[in-house]
Amino acid sequence: MNNLPVESYSQAQYPVIGSSPRTLKLLIDALENEKEDRLSDVYGTGELIESFQTKVAALLGKESAVFFPSGTMAQQIALRIWCERRNVRKAAYHPLCHLEIHEQNGLEELHGIESVLLGAEDRLLTLDDVKAMGEEIGCLLLELPQREIGGQLPSFDELEAISRYCREKGIPLHLDGARLFEIVPYYDRSEAEICCLFDSVYVSFYKGLGGLAGAILAGDSDLTEQSKVWKRRHGGDLISLYPYILSADQALELRRPRMELYFNGAKELSSKLSRCRQLHVVPEQPVSNMFHLHISLPLDRAASVLNQVCKESGVGLASFVRETSAASCCTEIHIGDRYLSIPQEKLDEALQLLERLLGEAAAE
Ligand SMILES: Cc1ncc(COP(=O)(O)O)c(C=O)c1O
Repeated sequence: MNNLPVESYSQAQYPVIGSSPRTLKLLIDALENEKEDRLSDVYGTGELIESFQTKVAALLGKESAVFFPSGTMAQQIALRIWCERRNVRKAAYHPLCHLEIHEQNGLEELHGIESVLLGAEDRLLTLDDVKAMGEEIGCLLLELPQREIGGQLPSFDELEAISRYCREKGIPLHLDGARLFEIVPYYDRSEAEICCLFDSVYVSFYKGLGGLAGAILAGDSDLTEQSKVWKRRHGGDLISLYPYILSADQALELRRPRMELYFNGAKELSSKLSRCRQLHVVPEQPVSNMFHLHISLPLDRAASVLNQVCKESGVGLASFVRETSAASCCTEIHIGDRYLSIPQEKLDEALQLLERLLGEAAAE
């Protein structure tokens, strides 16, 4: 994958992506209302970590939850536990899921678990794909939304049907819910109503929520107790995780209530962008706060148009572009607080400029 940064984005007066820059302010804010003598967590114990775990378990409708430094660690551990329980060292998931393309084959190298890729790269995994699998697996993982294809989602009916099928067959179903909070408005169901279709769930606190880092793995208490042993074996049981926990809690309280606003922002911006002839939005109607923007121009030319729009209007529409063919590229847009604070006339000015420059570049 050939990513090209849009160079002027870091200086944009009105960046569109996300909620805030990743500066030390994230941690300073998280500590702002804390008392100096509040006790830190110690190796996974103590009120600070335990109360957050209990709070998130309740939010997700699960018996128990464990805080991890990363989703990568949490999910590999969850899949290992399921595969061992089933005595089948195979986990099935979408060909573009995080485990497959961003974790350096950790599941196999660290846990001896083989991946079974279901469906195709350019579409969602379906119930038919699961039924047609033809081999025993230890666990099925679904990523909601499926980030690498623009954050697409199955219908809730399809999701329920997959869950029912897995329960009938005794296949543990794990949710990669890195962006779970972001899909609540579209499904119009609570986190717990979505999570009850799954046997275990991972959620992140630094994607749409914008915290520092960190993850929760939730499920039955057998699973979470075993996951704590694996967390220790992985060196993930840091003596103190409180900077991440406090930041996660703050981000959850601050941005979880704003997910509907972000979702509406994604729908609004994607519909404005798709009026340009050279642009195509995936999914056509966003189902979360994110979407992919496909540009019918070669990588270099698209980057130069986005750069110029950013320099002239101050609006940073994209931070990078990725080649999809010699004549096309794409970028990822996810909406947070920043988009909501851009003055309407500034955004419209930038979009008009974008349309004109794209037209000129296409005519060259
Ligand atoms: C869908 C998905 N799953 C898992 C992860 C892993 O999370 P972490 O960076 O906390 O390891 C990510 C991170 O980007 C992700 O996007």
